[in-house]
Amino acid sequence: MTARLTEEQRDRVEKLLSSMTLEEKIGQMNQESVSIVGGFDVPFEQLIEMMTDGRLSKEEFQTIMSTAKTDYHEDAIRKGLVGSLMVQDPEKCNELQRIAVEETRLGIPLIFGLDVIHGFRSVYPIAIAEAGSFDPELMEETASMAARESRACGVAWHFAPMLDIARDARWGRVSEGPGEDPCLASAFARAKVRGLQNDHSSTDHYVAACLKHFVGYGAVESGKDYNTVSMANHVLFNNYLEPFRAAVEEGAETVMASFNDLNGVPSTVNPWLLRTIMKKHFGLPGFIVSDANAIKECVAHGIAEDEADAGRQAAEAGLDMDMGTEIYLHNLKKLVEEGKISMSVVDDACRRILEVKMWLGLFDHPYTREGEIGKYETLPEEHVDLALRSAEESAVLLKNEGDILPIAGDAKISLVGNLADDKEQIIGAWAMSWKEKDCVTIREGMEKEFPKLRYFPCGGPEGEINEADAEEACAYGDVIVAVLGETVAMSGEASSRADITLPGDQRQLLEKLLASGKPVVLVLMNGRPLALGWEAEHVPAILEGWHLGIQMGNAIAHILSGRKNPEGRLSSSFPAVTGQCPIYYNHPNTGRPASNFKFTSRYLDAPFQALYPFGFGLSYTTYTLRDLKVEDKGNVLGISAKVKNTGKCSGRATVQFYMQDVTASLVRPIRELKGFAKAELAPGEEKTVFCSLEKKRMGFWNNQGEYRLEDGLFRIYAGQDSTTEMMQEIRLSFDGIEKEPDYPVI
Ligand code: GLC
Repeated sequence: MTARLTEEQRDRVEKLLSSMTLEEKIGQMNQESVSIVGGFDVPFEQLIEMMTDGRLSKEEFQTIMSTAKTDYHEDAIRKGLVGSLMVQDPEKCNELQRIAVEETRLGIPLIFGLDVIHGFRSVYPIAIAEAGSFDPELMEETASMAARESRACGVAWHFAPMLDIARDARWGRVSEGPGEDPCLASAFARAKVRGLQNDHSSTDHYVAACLKHFVGYGAVESGKDYNTVSMANHVLFNNYLEPFRAAVEEGAETVMASFNDLNGVPSTVNPWLLRTIMKKHFGLPGFIVSDANAIKECVAHGIAEDEADAGRQAAEAGLDMDMGTEIYLHNLKKLVEEGKISMSVVDDACRRILEVKMWLGLFDHPYTREGEIGKYETLPEEHVDLALRSAEESAVLLKNEGDILPIAGDAKISLVGNLADDKEQIIGAWAMSWKEKDCVTIREGMEKEFPKLRYFPCGGPEGEINEADAEEACAYGDVIVAVLGETVAMSGEASSRADITLPGDQRQLLEKLLASGKPVVLVLMNGRPLALGWEAEHVPAILEGWHLGIQMGNAIAHILSGRKNPEGRLSSSFPAVTGQCPIYYNHPNTGRPASNFKFTSRYLDAPFQALYPFGFGLSYTTYTLRDLKVEDKGNVLGISAKVKNTGKCSGRATVQFYMQDVTASLVRPIRELKGFAKAELAPGEEKTVFCSLEKKRMGFWNNQGEYRLEDGLFRIYAGQDSTTEMMQEIRLSFDGIEKEPDYPVI
């Protein structure tokens, strides 16, 4: 593995650091977001609020905005007081970079960052969907594509991957992360870091990753965004920290601290998390940035008396860069001069930032090259193909009663639902650099695939159902495809929902369509697991389409026509009713595991299992597994199973390997995913798939941070989802097996 920085590069950083004034060092720790100024007499955020709550109409907002200006903080850059900006226009980036490089005393380049979570121009599926492809190579390729496209627009730093394990789909940001399981999330994390960071064939090909949100944000109480988080150490160590540990091991350069408090201490000012665990224990080489406005919010948290105190605590805790509040800019100098913060804190933060800029090549290539600018205004075919492949591999077939699907190409189809004809809705949360011209709606994709298709909007997540449309749709088609779900705004940040059934009158629309007596296919567009108990009971075919990005329309059409055999799986459990949340497969057994006996861990008024469990997904063919073998090979368990295509068409099976530590010094989950393998199989073909499970990965951390490998009975499972019963028992001893490092606990 080549050194992260050469000796010469390290020397350049040290020489620079020793020549910087305190103000210049603090300037590097300051990230500005482009602010809208002028033309109105209230802060921009308040304008947005007024528009959101209806005090300001969209037209009034537009009029105000027409006179507003954008403040790119040029003067502050010129004074060396800005280290980073959130800007994505290449010409603007070069213009601002020129100020930083040519008009400041030391010419330190800016680093431009942006939320590139699932693609830049070639937007691919939201993370909760793409994680369900169980295809790390694909995940890496899409990240590499995003890195190239964004670097050509001046963006060298992605606030991605988002690695928040989430078990409660009421939280809107489940859409942005890789689901509920630490093993799949870690595979996703590694793949994304590789894809974003590793292609050093040119500085145009890689960016710095920013792992977020560190840590525990996905466990906000009651699924309510920004809410408090409480969890035992063993839950934190064995689940929520795992993808971050994996990503830093893979070489991730930067991290973003999360908004939430963890057991009473906001991550933003939490030295145990930032300095002890992330920097010392994991060994993060680069820097930690706050989330937007988060330092200021420590006053609201009640952990800091005022902004200066928040700034002091954050800097002391190891938070290196302030996103958007300018608290560091206005307070750190005085805090250092008064001896409330040591200069070494500022030096360490500044060094980390300078080293990432050096690692990115920004000191030698600060500008986006002419040849790169505009390079992706027309998407290369391979990018479009990759976005399509990711979309096709991420959709999940949940139900196909009577093999309604695939639909014959000459079928008369009534395509229903406003979401089917809306380019914005296929993109998903946090995509901000896509072009309409590159988007294929489901209507567009389906019209190409099915010439006898007619489209009837009928309504969607918001507003009334159009009765006339619905009547016509029921009359026309031999089969009805209803595209329903959530708008993009109903998931993502600040989008928690207390009821995660289909919003609005969509169920009533489904009832009308079902009343026609014609076969109805429900295609879902949503950013979270939905409570689908009613739909699962009444609708014969359900395809989970998520928000699959620019090629969603073609992917859905290819799956519905059978051109593509669906192979996606669920990275998160789906409940039958909202009240089951949080719901996840890797839960402890309890002393009274749920059963049909009343006095067990269950509900009176809801099922006790997930409606659709983690790892679940159907295909147009069927697979059967047999011959599970588990062999103790010293440091590893050699696990294998045979998987056969017992159906009528080719497909790719996803075999999952789980374990259970049956008796331990802490209660352990009834299942833990430890590996997975794909197998391309023709009808009748059988293959053996393997999982080499390192024994050191079979342990757990206890609440004291000790990593425990305890001899005893283990159950090894192989299957096509987390409810599989195919199992072998094995007694294991871990004598001489290397352990994972213990966690430092406070
Ligand atoms: C937001 C999000 C974070 C994002 C940041 C910058 O509030 O929490 O995920 O990266 O601000 O846009």
